[in-house]
Amino acid sequence: MADALKIGIAGLGTVGASLAKILVERRDMLTTTCGRPIDIVAVTARTRGRDRGVDLSGAEWFDEPVALAREAKIDVFVELMGGAGDPALAAVKAALSRGVHVVTANKALLAAHGVELAALAEKHGALLNYEAAVAGGIPVIKALRESLTGNTISRVYGIMNGTCNYILTKMEKEGLSFEACLKEAQRLGYAEADPAFDIEGNDTAHKLSILTTLAFGTRISADDIYLEGITNISIDDIRAAADLGYRIKLLGVAQKTDTGVEQRVHPTMVPLDSVIAQVDGVTNAVAIESDILGELLMVGPGAGGNATASAVLGDIADIAKSRPGAQTVPVLGRPAAALAPYERAQIRKHHGGYFIRLSVEDRTGVFASIARHMAENGISLESIVQRGQPTAESSDPKTIILVTHATMEDSVRKAVASVKSEGYLVGEPQVIRIERPKAA
Ligand SMILES: NC(=O)c1ccc[n+]([C@@H]2O[C@H](COP(=O)([O-])OP(=O)(O)OC[C@H]3O[C@@H](n4cnc5c(N)ncnc54)[C@H](OP(=O)(O)O)[C@@H]3O)[C@@H](O)[C@H]2O)c1
Repeated sequence: MADALKIGIAGLGTVGASLAKILVERRDMLTTTCGRPIDIVAVTARTRGRDRGVDLSGAEWFDEPVALAREAKIDVFVELMGGAGDPALAAVKAALSRGVHVVTANKALLAAHGVELAALAEKHGALLNYEAAVAGGIPVIKALRESLTGNTISRVYGIMNGTCNYILTKMEKEGLSFEACLKEAQRLGYAEADPAFDIEGNDTAHKLSILTTLAFGTRISADDIYLEGITNISIDDIRAAADLGYRIKLLGVAQKTDTGVEQRVHPTMVPLDSVIAQVDGVTNAVAIESDILGELLMVGPGAGGNATASAVLGDIADIAKSRPGAQTVPVLGRPAAALAPYERAQIRKHHGGYFIRLSVEDRTGVFASIARHMAENGISLESIVQRGQPTAESSDPKTIILVTHATMEDSVRKAVASVKSEGYLVGEPQVIRIERPKAA
């Protein structure tokens, strides 16, 4: 039997502790499947004495992650601390620089430094695996990086943040406000005390930037993502969406267009009868549309200690099974130097359907005026619905909901701006993009 694969783990929190436990408890099984044992020989975390629920007394303790990466006698450095900067960055660089393979779940690190780290890994003949960084336990990196080789990909999209999906699902199912559902998500541990990163869409954006690179062969460009979070979504939007046959999800979408690659994260209406609309709660889903295979949709746990550790374990097992000198999979799907510059497609050129919800003063002629502004901007309407009939007794605002056929975002923005200038809107208009699965 081959020598044991020696690993060092930096970070023994939710994911690190789950991983350590699985590696210890399933050592025999992994030895059989990988053809060699996998041993934890070095660990580090912030607090040394903390009970991690697993006996790690046989592993050497390091106070500093960089020291572990630089000095420990390891084949693989497993980075599970998180954060785009040091010590994660310095430690991963230190490991790769001496040819030690790296496995990480750190999307923030890859979104910020992925190309540089990929080049470093290539230079030193090391592997850099990061399945857990996107959509937790769903093997989407492997699908894009390996399984779909040779396919031309046209679109990748998905629900990649469990916190947002939990909140949107709960709002719809229980008719509660965004704020109430966020509080519940925090109580259950699905949302951080400071949830901004999740609900503003940044977490999804980090993951999307990695998928874009794998799908389209462009350099990672997380700063070029159009971003809208879910804080603006009201129960009225969710109800109106349901009435019209849609559900609202926070999607990350990367799509090839004539003018470049769109990368966008925003609340999105998806048809109720699509599979992605049925993905509820903290579950994640990623769809990949490609020319040879067609549409691939993967649904599964996107977070949590065990689900994430499962993906990390898969990456470690791949290394255990690989042999020195064997052909390796390029970190970002192709050599770092062969990645094309990212060309950002302008969101104003986005072509798709739109849901527009307008709260208007109860005046005659408003309905016709809105329809006229849409027509003047070349927007063809799938439906236009007025909620609450005008009455002589009431001057309460009325709601008008429009669903457009596929049109240019620029036209929608212009039409909405001219409707706004009429002075009969009450509050801000709501505009939500519609995304349709290929087959729908
Ligand atoms: N949790 C999930 O569901 C999930 C899903 C997908 C991806 N991820 C990614 O997995 C990574 C780990 O997440 P997590 O949820 O396991 O985080 P976590 O529970 O907060 O654990 C972080 C671990 O890193 C250690 N650590 C932090 N700063 C350190 C430092 N300067 N030096 C040494 N150790 C340090 C902490 O030590 P102490 O324990 O001593 O404080 C802790 O053990 C992140 O990149 C995250 O984005 C997590």
